[in-house]
Amino acid sequence: MLTTTEGLFEVRPLARESRAEFLEDVLCGLARAQKELPCKWLYDARGSALFERICQLEEYYPTRVELAIMEHHAREMAALLGPDCALVEYGSGSSLKTRLLLQHLRPAAYVPVDISGPALTEASDRLARAFPQLPVLPVCGDFTKPLLLPLDGVAAGRRCVYFPGSTIGNFHKPEMVGFLASVARQCGPGGGLLLGVDLRKERDVLERAYDDAQGVTASFDLNVLVRANRELGADFRLDSFRHEARWDERQGRMEMHLVSTREQTVHVGGEAFRFDEGESIWTESSYKYDLREFAVLAALAGWRSESVWTDHRAWFSVQYLTCA
Ligand code: TRP
Repeated sequence: MLTTTEGLFEVRPLARESRAEFLEDVLCGLARAQKELPCKWLYDARGSALFERICQLEEYYPTRVELAIMEHHAREMAALLGPDCALVEYGSGSSLKTRLLLQHLRPAAYVPVDISGPALTEASDRLARAFPQLPVLPVCGDFTKPLLLPLDGVAAGRRCVYFPGSTIGNFHKPEMVGFLASVARQCGPGGGLLLGVDLRKERDVLERAYDDAQGVTASFDLNVLVRANRELGADFRLDSFRHEARWDERQGRMEMHLVSTREQTVHVGGEAFRFDEGESIWTESSYKYDLREFAVLAALAGWRSESVWTDHRAWFSVQYLTCA
């Protein structure tokens, strides 16, 4: 079990079967006609650290723009969430944006949920120091699966979920609606959802955001192969794959691919997978919405849009929704 240096709380660990699950995802994903890997496996300790570096890149606008929106409106957002709420954050990472909220909000408890144990421990530790009155109850896990939240003994008002970044964009649309519906069930009637939603914009801005000049995003994407080699004994040759970011205008999504630069065969878990030159592994999608379309999809999942904040170029939105 992971504990913090201070022993203030315990991070509930990811299920032991996660290596087996990773292997299964790799074997199933590579057996498809379009090879693919679920994006959650990008986030081991190194992947989470690389993602933090992405968030600081000049090209990666989502973090910068969302932070600016939060800085302007955190007080108003906190008032809508309401004092005494139980605040659950999915994919909390470094919990950087959460600090802005917590400056104006005294929740009954804060439950950061993240798939990366080391990132979660470090962030929880720092937050508990900065907000000594705040009960921090971290959960290490995959928020796309049913999770037991440690909120039973907590006397809280409403349950609110904070889901910043553009992580909601990493679901395909039907799964996104299914996910929002499961969050609605978790929060119950009257529950709140404070959500980051990235918006459609010019192709070149998007392509630069997902393929930066320094190659940090490329290293992040390739890290899933590094991880498969280390954890599953796979033999991916890192110099024979390159990162590619493609904008699909019709679908409104960025696609991240690892493209094989030559014909090759890769071995994992006793199986062999052939790659043609130019054949890719699809590692992630990041959907960009327009506000109207998003509101319609959220309504299908039982959420009513209460407030939407954007920047002056309408590149990114933070939205407050309530559960009908
Ligand atoms: N949630 C982030 C996003 O969609 C994840 C991300 C950023 C990402 N850059 C990436 C995932 C590059 C894979 C490759 O913006």
